[in-house]
Amino acid sequence: MANIYCVGNWKMNKSPSEAAEFCLELEKKARQDEKTHLVVLPPAISSQSVAHALKPTSLRWGGQNCYFESHGAFTGETSPVVLKDLGATFCLVGHSERRQIFSEGDELLAKKLHSLQVLGVTPILCVGETLDDRKWNRTEEVVLRQLQNGLSQLESSKSFWIAYEPVWAIGTGQVATGEQVQEVHAMIRKFLQDNYGENGNGAVILYGGSVKPDNANWLAKIANVDGFLIGGASLKVDDFLQIYRQARG
Ligand code: PGA
Repeated sequence: MANIYCVGNWKMNKSPSEAAEFCLELEKKARQDEKTHLVVLPPAISSQSVAHALKPTSLRWGGQNCYFESHGAFTGETSPVVLKDLGATFCLVGHSERRQIFSEGDELLAKKLHSLQVLGVTPILCVGETLDDRKWNRTEEVVLRQLQNGLSQLESSKSFWIAYEPVWAIGTGQVATGEQVQEVHAMIRKFLQDNYGENGNGAVILYGGSVKPDNANWLAKIANVDGFLIGGASLKVDDFLQIYRQARG
């Protein structure tokens, strides 16, 4: 049985009551041994309701984003300290929508990652090339740069995860080929091993981008794929669970 993690990125979906409803349904339908491998990432405003619904369970949750400062005059931002206080285990850093729509750069992302680690929240650094990058053979260069810069303040003895998401595969239904996933995940693993030794070897590397129940099985068999970051298909409990079960095989 493969040790696979499924992380559901709800993006800007689910109100507090919808989020709680999802959590209760997931708690009911998932078996005990599956729960520790499932993670949901609600929008910030629904975090408290998810935290409350999941508290008595072994299901885990995290943030989709946060700022690097703990408090102060940062209108509209989410504090990592508050995520921690509510019981978040994880937080995404640098999802491609944050990079592209909200212009977040590597320097900012490195600070966020550091703040989360200091608090004991596991950052999930997202990396991935655009379609243009791939067309011009810049995938390796772009992903390595994002790793190098995003992890520049990493404390490798503390927990951290990576998510490889080709931007062109996100929300498009166009999943990367097995060869593409294998190649980039191997490159990420090598980077982590070269720079952080055993800690890099143990870091979870997720794949994301149009993961669905019908492609999870073969994707999960690829070397260095330790799980998935799932957008659209994580919004329904049955699809989300189905992905996990297909992946675990
Ligand atoms: P998708 O999104 O599964 O809808 O392609 C993945 C993500 O953006 O994390």
